[in-house]
Amino acid sequence: MQRGIEFLGSEHAILCGAMSWVSERNLVSAISNAGGFGVIACGAMTPELLDAEIAATKALTSRPFGVNLITMHPGLFDLIAICARHQIGHVVLAGGIPPKGSIEALKEAGAKTICIPPTLALAKKYLRSGADALVIEGMEAGGHIGPVSTSVLAQEILPELSGDHLVFVAGGIGRGDMIASYLEMGASGVQLGTRFACATESIAHPDFKKAFFRANARDAVASVQVDPRLPVIPVRALKNKGTEEFTAKQVEVAKLLDEGKVDMGEAQLQIEHFWAGALRRAVIGGDVENGSLMAGQSVGMVTSEEPVAQIIAALMEECEAALARR
Ligand SMILES: Cc1cc2nc3c(=O)[nH]c(=O)nc-3n(C[C@H](O)[C@H](O)[C@H](O)COP(=O)(O)O)c2cc1C
Repeated sequence: MQRGIEFLGSEHAILCGAMSWVSERNLVSAISNAGGFGVIACGAMTPELLDAEIAATKALTSRPFGVNLITMHPGLFDLIAICARHQIGHVVLAGGIPPKGSIEALKEAGAKTICIPPTLALAKKYLRSGADALVIEGMEAGGHIGPVSTSVLAQEILPELSGDHLVFVAGGIGRGDMIASYLEMGASGVQLGTRFACATESIAHPDFKKAFFRANARDAVASVQVDPRLPVIPVRALKNKGTEEFTAKQVEVAKLLDEGKVDMGEAQLQIEHFWAGALRRAVIGGDVENGSLMAGQSVGMVTSEEPVAQIIAALMEECEAALARR
C-alpha cells in the first residue's frame, strides 16, 4: 500500500468510493479521520452546494479527502474552480471520458486527477492525457457499472500498468483477504463503496441500511437495457419495485425518442435524472420499495451497522492475516 499511501496522504490506501447522497460531509470526514480516504460525491450538486459541502467537510477533518465529479455535469469547469479554490488535493473524474481541458484545469489547480477506465486501452489513454492514478472498477460494484468483472479487469490492467502507475481496484471487495490479493497483483490500494454505505457515520436512512443487512449477493442485480437505440449505463442495485420502474421509464423515454419529442442527449439525461431522484428517495427518504437501493454484490458481507474505524481495522487485519498466511 505504500505507494498508494504516499499518493493519497492517508494512513491506509483504502478509498471510500464516492456514493451519491451517501458520501457527504459525515461519512467522508469519518473515513478520513479513521485513516482511509474519503471522497465527496458531487453528483448533480450545483457549484454553490459543492462549495458548502467541502467547507463543512473541512470543518470535520483536517486529513486529506477528495471530490468526485461526474464528467457530464454541465457545470464541470465551475465545479473544478470550486475544488481549486478549496485546494482539494485529489479529484476523481467519473462517468466517462474527461472532456478536453478538464485534466489540465485540475493540474493547474494543483489537484491530482484520478480516472476510472473501463478498458486497458482507455486506461492508457487517460494516463497519456495526464491522469495521475486510476481506479479500475468491475461490474460487481454498486451504482453505475461497466460490463467486465473486477477479476478480469485486474488481470488485464495490473500486470501491464501497475509497475509504473498507481492503480486502485474497486468492485466486489468485502474482506481484507481480497485486498491482499489485489495488492499482490500490483495494486496500490483499493476502493470500497457498499461496505461503507451502512457505517454508523453514514446518514443513509435506517430502512436503507436494514435493506442492505438483509440482502444477499444475488439480490444486487444489474439493470437491463430495453431498447438497443437507447444505450443506458447499467446500474447495480437491490431488486425492488424501483428496478422494475426503471424498465418502464426506459420504455417511456424510448417512445419519446421514437416520436421525436426528445433527442438522444435529452433521453439519456432523463434516465440519469431518474436514477438520481430514485437514489435520493431511498437514501434520504427511506423509500426502499420505490427508491433505488444501489448496492454491489459484496452487500451480503454487510450484516450490521459498524463505525467506519471498526470496518477499516477489520479490513486491515484480514489483509495482514492473509499476507502472513502466504
Ligand atoms: C449507493 C452507491 C452510490 C454510488 N454513487 C457513485 C457516484 O456518484 N459516483 C461514482 O463515481 N461512483 C459511485 N458509486 C460507486 C462507488 O464509488 C464505488 O466505486 C463502488 O461502490 C465500489 O464497489 P463496491 O460497491 O463493490 O464496494 C456508488 C456506489 C453505491 C453503492
